[in-house]
Amino acid sequence: MIDRLWTNARLATMVPQAGDGLGLVAGGAVATREGHIVYAGPMAGAPQAPGAEVIDCEGRLLTPGLVDCHTHLVYGGNRAREFELRLKGATYEEIALSGGGILSTVSATRAASLERLTEDALKRLDTLMAEGITTIEVKSGYGLDTATESRCLGVARALGRVRPVRVETSFLGAHALPPEAAGDKDAYIDRLIRETLPQVAKAGLADAVDAFCEGIAFSPAQVERLFTAATALGLRVKLHADQLSNLGGAALAARYKALSADHLEYTDEAGAMAMAGAGTVAVLLPGAYYFLRETQKPPVDLFRKHGVPMALATDSNPGSSPLTSLLLTLNMGATLFRLTVDECLAGVTRNAAKALGLDGELGTLEAGKSCDLAIWDVAEPAELVYRIGFNPLHTRVWRGQ
Ligand code: NIG
Ligand code: FE
Repeated sequence: MIDRLWTNARLATMVPQAGDGLGLVAGGAVATREGHIVYAGPMAGAPQAPGAEVIDCEGRLLTPGLVDCHTHLVYGGNRAREFELRLKGATYEEIALSGGGILSTVSATRAASLERLTEDALKRLDTLMAEGITTIEVKSGYGLDTATESRCLGVARALGRVRPVRVETSFLGAHALPPEAAGDKDAYIDRLIRETLPQVAKAGLADAVDAFCEGIAFSPAQVERLFTAATALGLRVKLHADQLSNLGGAALAARYKALSADHLEYTDEAGAMAMAGAGTVAVLLPGAYYFLRETQKPPVDLFRKHGVPMALATDSNPGSSPLTSLLLTLNMGATLFRLTVDECLAGVTRNAAKALGLDGELGTLEAGKSCDLAIWDVAEPAELVYRIGFNPLHTRVWRGQ
């Protein structure tokens, strides 16, 4: 029994076929049953669907629902004032070292009520969903104590209960050193390993563990200790790596079979090769590159050369990427990083799903996958990448609904 059938669509299945990374099907149909795709392909091959609801897409483009695989959606306050300081010449690192930056958001997050955190995050989530996002990753990292980290992850989980969207959470306790740690990064990592991580894991609040490996954050040795503990608890890892300098973060992530290494502006060839060997996805974040006015671009040619899958995400956060548009991110990926249209679209579907370890469940239009769809009022896939500040979404479908 088929529940629903979309016909007369131009499919971008995102299943690569010879000479076409988008898996295009003209005159296509998608059938769903109990939230899963049972057919995606030419209309002529579609199964009989007596009693099913039939939806005529009138030639529109139909893609997998979009996946935003790297966000920091839950936080208190904003950093508009810090933005003004940067306009007057202060750098992101200077602001962080003088106690602003991530730590100013930590204070605002600790002070915010659960309701306020949820309401603010929902506004950002709704904006993203209006562009066809059906799966989103949300990190903690603005609590930096066990109670607030748990609260933020709980808010992230709640988002997925009050909206039709899949939420994947990452525990980012190793995002910055909180003031009460009095400068002792090793002791803080010890506490994360001893207390916060086990509690968060036990409560089922984290699907993965992330860290920020950087001079202004944590050293490779400190990240390794955390990753060892995460792995022992059965949690996959991912890493903010090589964003502001090359500390060998990409290769470190690969050693722990990370789902993804993210940012990567300063990654070298050894890092790219290690990622290829480990199947670690390169998550590129052009919003942060743009907003911090970075000039070093991630080594896209090396990722291509070594076959590292590339994803694109908003990095939606108050400090380095106050961005709530994945469509604009596509345009930035093409314009700033010179990704092709195929690479951009793979970066927010198939490869973004892989960055979350969900490539077996979503990210392409294939039988057996979750029936998450975006139907667009455009004729050409390139239009999704080309426009700036225009949202052509016609219909968003999550789990067949
Ligand atoms: O992904 N790189 C570290 N974390 C965030 C920025 C967080 C902030 O400035 O609040 C990022 O860019
Ligand atoms: Fe980030």
